Amino acid sequence: MTAKRRTLYTLIALISVFAVVRIIDEFKGAIIASVQVRATQSVASASPDQIALSWSDDPQTTQTVQWRTAPSVLDGWVQVRATLPGDASVTEVEAERSVMRDRLLRNDPVNHRYTAVLRGLTPGTSYQYRVGSKQRDLWSSWNEFATGPESAEDFSFLFLGDPQVDMKNWGALLRSAHERRPQAAFYLLAGDIVDNGTFRNLWDEYFQASQGVFDRRPAMAALGNHDYSSRWDPSMFLHFFPAPHNGPKALPEGHAYSFTYGNALFVVLDSNQEVRDQTPWLEQQLAQTKATWKFALFHHPVYSSKDNRDNEDVRDRWRPIFDQYHLDMALQGHDHAYLRTYPMRNDKRATADEGGVYYVVAVSGTKFYKQEPHDYAEIGFENTPTYQVIDIATNPNRLTYRAYDAQGNVKDEVILVKP
Ligand SMILES: [Fe+2]
Repeated sequence: MTAKRRTLYTLIALISVFAVVRIIDEFKGAIIASVQVRATQSVASASPDQIALSWSDDPQTTQTVQWRTAPSVLDGWVQVRATLPGDASVTEVEAERSVMRDRLLRNDPVNHRYTAVLRGLTPGTSYQYRVGSKQRDLWSSWNEFATGPESAEDFSFLFLGDPQVDMKNWGALLRSAHERRPQAAFYLLAGDIVDNGTFRNLWDEYFQASQGVFDRRPAMAALGNHDYSSRWDPSMFLHFFPAPHNGPKALPEGHAYSFTYGNALFVVLDSNQEVRDQTPWLEQQLAQTKATWKFALFHHPVYSSKDNRDNEDVRDRWRPIFDQYHLDMALQGHDHAYLRTYPMRNDKRATADEGGVYYVVAVSGTKFYKQEPHDYAEIGFENTPTYQVIDIATNPNRLTYRAYDAQGNVKDEVILVKP
């Protein structure tokens, strides 16, 4: 071997070692996290738990119900009956069973998950339901849900920013939100539901914290970056939030979707994915709707709390469409502080009457970041988990938006009236 060739090989070897060291350094966190052996504090049993409602189809006539059991249970059923006095007839719907594995959970690595879609329900009606196994004769207690109205009528919903950490405190906030507006129709979550979306033990904590609320009111969520996790795998989120399959063709099903409730349209986007792939679909949703009120829900905000958290692509591609079709409110998360803009149009302050769009960033968990002052912020504050109650009235058309802190103090308010 010539000296020249030896030098070349040594150089190549050195560069390779350097590259490997850099790669390990870069992905150290992800590698450690993905092989971390963990335990869950909530082990599945033969009795159903983690009962949760969502809509994977029309809120007027369907209801999607999920729960889990230990793998020893092999069948799943929902029994449902109308709440009307005198009508005690029970309908049974069989659930689809799937196996969820988290092989690094040392005490409960395999769960059975059940999903049932109840169809043919009557709009604007309260139902009672319970879930369980006919083979084992093990049932949950009876619970309730209600279908969406056939036409425009008054209703309320709640919006929560990132939960992500400290589910004990988050659960307390959720329960106070539910107590404030127990008749609210559903909840919207802006993503980052858990800190690592591939750790089932964290989802177990989330389900434990949300029992008593999401087993009677559907939760609809947008995907946050933490729901993907460091492994870029949102499969647990997609399983736990079965959404309508009506999103943009360019995305896998369940990442983006829309639904209409009463006289309001809700467009849910996945800001982790290519923004431009969702833009034509977003435009179509807003152009086609006859809804009085239009909301968008996604994780990465158009107007951020800090300059180094800017999401230019989201702002450049979605904001003009929000302007054009006069979205009423964009509901967002990710920044771990509260920020509500002035009504914005053409990237400038406007009024709602001029077609301005309100952009809200909220946090419902206790992970907080700093916020910088910005011209677009009408109100902003730090270190405060909030829940947002949105009341929609129909006669006249009025939207009342209020943000509450954990103690129930009103921290922000917006009232919009339409003819
Ligand atoms: Fe985030």
